[in-house]
Amino acid sequence: MLAVVIGSALLVSWIIASIHGNNNSGLKDIPNAHFSAPYSRRWWLSIRWRKMENRSLIRLHRRLGPVVRIGPRDVSVNCIDDGVRTIYSAKFDKDASFYHALADQTGFMVTMIGNDEHKRRRRMLAHPYSNSYILNSQTLDRTLSRVSCRLREGMAAWASTGTSVDVYQQAKCCLLDVISGFLFGSENATDTLRDPSFQDDLTALAKAAGKNLHVKTSLAWPMNYFASLVGGNVPPDPDSRSRWEAWLTRVITDSYRKHPTKHSSTASLYDHFYDSFKIADPDMPLNDMASFIAVECDDHVSASHMGLGSLLSYTMYELSRAPDWQRALRKELLTLGEPSNQSLAHRLADLPVLDAVVTETMRTRAPCPGPFPRVVPESGCQLVGKFDIPGGTIVSSSAWALHFNPIPFPSPEEWRPGRWLEADKNTLAEMRKWIWTFGSGARVCIGTHFSMRVMKELLITIYTDYETFLDEEFTGNVEQEDIFSSSPLAGCIKLKFRRLT
Ligand SMILES: *[C@@H]1O[C@H](CO)[C@@H](O)[C@H](O)[C@H]1NC(C)=O
Ligand SMILES: *[C@@H]1O[C@H](CO)[C@@H](O)[C@H](O)[C@H]1NC(C)=O
Ligand SMILES: *[C@@H]1O[C@H](CO)[C@@H](O)[C@H](O)[C@H]1NC(C)=O
Ligand SMILES: *[C@@H]1O[C@H](CO)[C@@H](O)[C@H](O)[C@H]1NC(C)=O
Repeated sequence: MLAVVIGSALLVSWIIASIHGNNNSGLKDIPNAHFSAPYSRRWWLSIRWRKMENRSLIRLHRRLGPVVRIGPRDVSVNCIDDGVRTIYSAKFDKDASFYHALADQTGFMVTMIGNDEHKRRRRMLAHPYSNSYILNSQTLDRTLSRVSCRLREGMAAWASTGTSVDVYQQAKCCLLDVISGFLFGSENATDTLRDPSFQDDLTALAKAAGKNLHVKTSLAWPMNYFASLVGGNVPPDPDSRSRWEAWLTRVITDSYRKHPTKHSSTASLYDHFYDSFKIADPDMPLNDMASFIAVECDDHVSASHMGLGSLLSYTMYELSRAPDWQRALRKELLTLGEPSNQSLAHRLADLPVLDAVVTETMRTRAPCPGPFPRVVPESGCQLVGKFDIPGGTIVSSSAWALHFNPIPFPSPEEWRPGRWLEADKNTLAEMRKWIWTFGSGARVCIGTHFSMRVMKELLITIYTDYETFLDEEFTGNVEQEDIFSSSPLAGCIKLKFRRLT
């Protein structure tokens, strides 16, 4: 009896305290996603748990405007000026509770919380990812031509036998072979287009990591604590992990041995990372340095492999549904046959149809929907010119919600590359601002230029000589899973190839 009385008294005082707390909160003028949002995160966590976050965010922002309160200290933001531009500036740190759930290992750039720490690391890694470096890198040239050559072999066989091809898997293989060549030199690249077993290992690891992240970020305390204990104790697939780690260790050791004799034309990213770590801290013990480089490389491999693999295969899928766009693209690609004094990488800038097709797919099929939480600094901030947000609030934006905003993108659900070709200069600049596939601001994805070059050159390899079309017998669900790192629900995308004469 006493327990019931004490329990009820505690409950009532908690309710009063929450309501009172809300009354004093700087967030009380912001529209609530749900009546319980000012008092508890549970409702939002249940949406995330049921994998409805993206859908709900799109709907809520359409109904309630660009700033919506989704928890007692949590706000979702869906506009660029006075929104994204403010919260993804260098003043807002990442939310540790979220980003530490992202990976078992931390200490690499993406999981760094503070912006100062991040800035130092980014300075060490940024040079070989700059646009001019990417356009002129001979290592990337060699790697891409090797992968294109393998891909042509594959396509020749698929077209002649009429095979139904899982292009999601093949795209992941292409990307893995490219990024490993760029990181460690073409002689140490993987060759998963011929032997995909290694790629399968990485996909299994990424899937397990995604599941872990989902559990850890969508359960309220103390459930997530227990979940992370369980997740931490049972490694997803020990064999995949040990094969992957053994390969990474070997290739980093080989790169270390070769480093002193490397000429700059054959330098890989490893060589750049080594030099910049050495300059930043000449006394750093070799083992520490090797492990810092290894976790960065691990991250760059998985981001390109899963993220870009997904984007590339969805571009092929959309083109297969839109034969007219495929014809327009091919017509443009045939102009590459004309002699030119420029390299292919430089000529990518003059292919508007290819750019429109890629950009539109980046909009409708962003591989990381988000959200990407940030912490408002002590001094607070103002959003959309009217909401004063107190320090400590967690603010976040999501790529899908920004990309599905009908104001910059009328009929946002439709894949329409034409919108990028028809718009006038000002509209185009405005639309580009809203594309958030790689994020923006101080922590924009370091691999943006790399991604664009690789995606475009692989698409050129495919669509210059081949056409892709839907496999009528394939009925898998090609929609994306609504989680942080989002791949096709069916786990595959099947298409067929036909050779064009
Ligand atoms: C909340 O604040 C308003 C005025 O700002 C006041 O009228 C109201 O009584 C307060 N409610 C509670 C529960 O403190
Ligand atoms: C890396 O390349 C060298 C040849 O340059 C080769 O001897 C070595 O086995 C390769 N290592 C891996 C892990 O592929
Ligand atoms: C390349 O060709 C263009 C004309 O097609 C010319 O304007 C340019 O100077 C040439 N560049 C070089 C490096 O030869
Ligand atoms: C996000 O929501 C939109 C609109 O409901 C939907 O078309 C899209 O497939 C969703 N994407 C994901 C990753 O759930």
